[in-house]
Amino acid sequence: MAHSLFLLPGDGIGTEIMAEVEKIIAWLNSQGETDFTLDTGLAGGAAYDAHGVAISEEDMQKALAADAVIFGAVGGPKWDNVPYEHRPEAALLRLRKELGVFANLRPAICYPALADASSLKRELVEGLDILIVRELTGGVYFGEPKQIIDLGNGQKRAIDTQVYETYEIDRIARVAFDLARTRKNKVHSADKKNVMKSGVFWDEVVRSVGKEYPDVQLNHILADNAAMQLVRNPKQFDVMVTDNLFGDILSDVAAMLTGSLGMLPSASLGAPDPVSGKRKAFYEPVHGSAPDIAGKGIANPIAMVASFAMALRYSFGMIELANRVEAAISAVLADGLRTGDIAQDNRRTVGTEEMGAAILGKLKA
Ligand code: NAI
Ligand code: MG
Repeated sequence: MAHSLFLLPGDGIGTEIMAEVEKIIAWLNSQGETDFTLDTGLAGGAAYDAHGVAISEEDMQKALAADAVIFGAVGGPKWDNVPYEHRPEAALLRLRKELGVFANLRPAICYPALADASSLKRELVEGLDILIVRELTGGVYFGEPKQIIDLGNGQKRAIDTQVYETYEIDRIARVAFDLARTRKNKVHSADKKNVMKSGVFWDEVVRSVGKEYPDVQLNHILADNAAMQLVRNPKQFDVMVTDNLFGDILSDVAAMLTGSLGMLPSASLGAPDPVSGKRKAFYEPVHGSAPDIAGKGIANPIAMVASFAMALRYSFGMIELANRVEAAISAVLADGLRTGDIAQDNRRTVGTEEMGAAILGKLKA
């Protein structure tokens, strides 16, 4: 069955790393392993230069119609002074909002060959494979009121509001439990129910969803303890579900267990369509457009390729193929190939194209 992918390479290294994914897709299609139809659009500064907006209506419609959106990165000094509503990041915010992608999946995988590259001890991170499921469209980042009030006596008062409704916690919990069933049947739910009403409520809703998943072990953890445990003994976790704010922080902590920003993929999923069951989905590396190295051909394409592997797994159920792509990445690293960001003594430093070609070579083998 044909599946449609809409590619938005964006700016800076976005276009360079997307090119490597396109080569992998072309080869998979040529082998009959996949039947992807591809379309490519402009996002961020590239779209601003062409259309005067961060993403055109036409490309927005294509993103909404596609089976999955694969996004590179946007931004760069060239667009630092464009009108605020057209800044490159506006494309990302609009895409996330209109696609309704409330579930942000950030895996932290430490490839064996990079266990020494982490700032932590090898035995702590070797073989690490955890998945943080962060609620992305609610909570304190969006709750109202959100304001700074002038109290008139030289004092001001700043207010952010943490708001969650039952359905928002229910649906993110279901994503986490469903994913746990494809992994180790274990979920940790992190909140601050000791000091926050919204934490008490979060826990209540997650527990009630958990009753429908008796085969999945549900553990509660306070979010601050979760941060500590991620550094102390990360392998105790498998799937961790948490709100927007704690998820932002905990996923960054987990990220640093794996090596480099250039290694980190992500997926953002929407609600299943009531008729087709298909979810809107958005896949992107965690890093930005890296203007400092853009145009030099030295960016690490692994986060981008691994984001594509997540699309294979979560949008198309091609688990075996996703595993093969990840195994190809692991094999190339085991061979000692390194881009500059993960360079280690005595290992061979290669550029974007060579790294991409090596991954494709392992896939072909
Ligand atoms: P960044 O992630 O682009 O770069 C941070 C550092 O990591 C840089 O030294 C960069 O060279 C390095 N780096 C990042 N990805 C790499 C890769 N694949 N291979 C090798 N090295 C890599 O973050 P920064 O510098 O804060 O932001 C640069 C631009 O990107 C800004 O315009 C920012 O707004 C935008 N940005 C966009 C994001 C997105 O599109 N999702 C996310 C974060 C930032
Ligand atoms: Mg963050």
